[in-house]
Amino acid sequence: TARLELRCAREGEAVLRLDAHPTLRVQRAALRGAPGDGGDPQPLRVESRPFASYGSALHVHLPQPLRAGQLLSLEIDYEAGEGPGVCWLAPEQTAGKQKPYMYTQGQAVLNRSFFPCFDTPSVKCTYSATVQVPEGFTAVMSATSWEKQKDNTFVFKMSQPIPSYLIALAVGDIVSADVGPRSRVWAEPCLIEAAKKEYDGVIEEFLAVGEKLFGPYVWGRYDILFMPPSFPFGGMENPCLTFVTPCLLAGDRSLADVIIHEISHSWFGNLVTNATWGEFWLNEGFTMYAQRRISTEVYGLAYTCLEAATGRALLRQHMDNTGEDHPLNKLRVVIEPGLWGVNPDDTYNETPYEKGYCFVSYLAHLVGDQSKFDAFLQAYVNQFKFQSITADDTLGFFLEYFPELKEKGVDSVPGFEFDRWLNTPGWPPYLPDLSPGEQLMKPAEELAELWAADSLNVEAIEAVDITAWRTYQLVYFLDKILQKSPLPEGNVERLSKMYPKISKAQNAELRLRWCQIILKNNLEAEYSKVKDFLHSQGKQKYTLPLYRAMWGGSESARALAMETFSATAPQLHVNVQNYVKKILGLEVAE
Ligand code: BES
Ligand code: ZN
Repeated sequence: TARLELRCAREGEAVLRLDAHPTLRVQRAALRGAPGDGGDPQPLRVESRPFASYGSALHVHLPQPLRAGQLLSLEIDYEAGEGPGVCWLAPEQTAGKQKPYMYTQGQAVLNRSFFPCFDTPSVKCTYSATVQVPEGFTAVMSATSWEKQKDNTFVFKMSQPIPSYLIALAVGDIVSADVGPRSRVWAEPCLIEAAKKEYDGVIEEFLAVGEKLFGPYVWGRYDILFMPPSFPFGGMENPCLTFVTPCLLAGDRSLADVIIHEISHSWFGNLVTNATWGEFWLNEGFTMYAQRRISTEVYGLAYTCLEAATGRALLRQHMDNTGEDHPLNKLRVVIEPGLWGVNPDDTYNETPYEKGYCFVSYLAHLVGDQSKFDAFLQAYVNQFKFQSITADDTLGFFLEYFPELKEKGVDSVPGFEFDRWLNTPGWPPYLPDLSPGEQLMKPAEELAELWAADSLNVEAIEAVDITAWRTYQLVYFLDKILQKSPLPEGNVERLSKMYPKISKAQNAELRLRWCQIILKNNLEAEYSKVKDFLHSQGKQKYTLPLYRAMWGGSESARALAMETFSATAPQLHVNVQNYVKKILGLEVAE
């Protein structure tokens, strides 16, 4: 049962339109009296109407037109089943392989198949939930507080207003361990030791630096749930409880940038929210900037610039794949509702992240002083906290906050117009200076250069000791190798033998790059590594580039794609399944 407490915004409305999904089976809707006035709930007529490929509209007919400001309390009994927002996993799809698991993933527009709601980031509300689970299972949610009651019933309460996409639930055989004063990790029992070891004692520093830079952390706890391997994202910033891929358990904290990223959403995205998915960059671009600010404070500028350079390489790859002029390569995407509009989930690509990062970096560059820009970010969060806003709000506030820049007309500098940033597809007109990372990037670039030569200078190669290189330095090196691939005959085989640290890596970021290199060089002898990697996890950003590479490759690579997909499809998140089908030219059922 969903219980909605609403206030009528527009005088005279007699139909309430909610987002829902064809898989949501509504059994009954009723109007409850105002709290305290007793009386039986009054049954209401509901009908499902077509809306878009990704959901339907639920029309609830009210007994009479409402007055503006009128409060109403609505009860909807329904069953959520096989919709895309609710994922049901068999025991074999979990790490422990003993018990089933379920989780929800709301962003962008999937929670309408979990419960009827206003499934838009422009509406925020608090929520509470009562969840009963079978014996031996634990439920967790993105909530401020929770309590276990009798009969395996968990009661949750989120006391801050949030958009619908941030409501999340997971149920499984999970346990927790403390890793900081306001943080614990959750994972299946077989992973909890590794999870604790990975992040024990480090989360608090990330939070504290975030608070220093961007203002108070308003969410109370910051916990992390390690998901089953098929979880489609690196991380999902569900408030109070970030969901992450188990790939982060690298053993050496090398993938903590994902955690810092999700923590950064505590201010950018979860507190100040994009009002429409057409301006997703307001969430992700500001979060990338915040992530790299925290990273700079914790790990230093050189390392952070190196990480940002790998991000820039991803943007390059993405624009090469789609063409720079693709309409989704604008920061502001037009999302028309209805059957022919863009599915908001399709805007998930590198543009809002890395081009968004460049735009925020450009704003910082206009200001010219890091501490002044930090102060602006803090004022921005304070100004718009708990609201949903558009880029016009953001940029208007920026110009108001820096009147001398407004005076100078920085919003209309030829070639760098704010309007151009937002509405023109293509490569960012401004790139932040990443040269402080040179000391880490140069050796990797030079080594890649050596490996691309027709006849290898073995002496020079052997003189470079990569044993002390950090993960992101290796990633950067591999991206360079990938850009230069295919390498001259035999070079990749030699590289593979010379650096088992790379070719036998367990780290997912390294495995992704190595698999891409295998495919670009058509190294059939190592195809099994591609297969194993795709069997081991289902993250979208790892899965799609590999299928694209296989499908664009040789006959044998295409066969590998088909074989791997038929074996792993049932484990993949439905959205990821559908994107792979599109790549492989298979039918996608709407
Ligand atoms: N909010 C996103 C994940 C997301 C985006 C889910 C769009 C559904 C639709 C999350 O914060 C994110 O960006 N994750 C990244 C982390 C990376 C940029 C460090 C990921 O999953 O790769
Ligand atoms: Zn994000």
